[in-house]
Amino acid sequence: MRLLTALFFIFSTLGADDFIAKRDYAKLLYSNPRGIGCDKCHGEDGMGLVIARVKKKGEIRDFSAPRIDNVTKQAFFKALNSPKDIMPKYSLTNEEMGILFEYITNRL
Ligand code: HEC
Repeated sequence: MRLLTALFFIFSTLGADDFIAKRDYAKLLYSNPRGIGCDKCHGEDGMGLVIARVKKKGEIRDFSAPRIDNVTKQAFFKALNSPKDIMPKYSLTNEEMGILFEYITNRL
């Protein structure tokens, strides 16, 4: 993670490249947020995924993560601050959550 922070610092001082660099940083953070990558459950582009398909008593049940590219900022922060179900708890700063939100909702 220190590397990510260092990369972000370097990128953010590059001026003209800032736009692209911030997106690259967000992409890295999305797949490696100091824990299991968001992409593993929500998909590379945040469109949601079926994580596992379990057959129980002849009935098939899907465990899935919802699409997150269309949520409000409030819902996004809420999910990260108080995750439900199998969504893991992360220790992300507000800045990191903000960057992830902008990235996944294509504002970055
Ligand atoms: C192990 C799988 C898993 C991982 C990894 C994961 N999530 Fe989730 N996430 C879920 C599930 C399942 C839900 C639905 C929880 C519920 O029932 O409300 C969810 C819910 C959310 C929501 C709320 C969606 C809504 O409609 O309100 C957001 C936003 C979100 N996750 C973002 C993230 C981000 C960002 C990361 C990475 C930092 C991440 N998630 C990592 C499984 C995961």
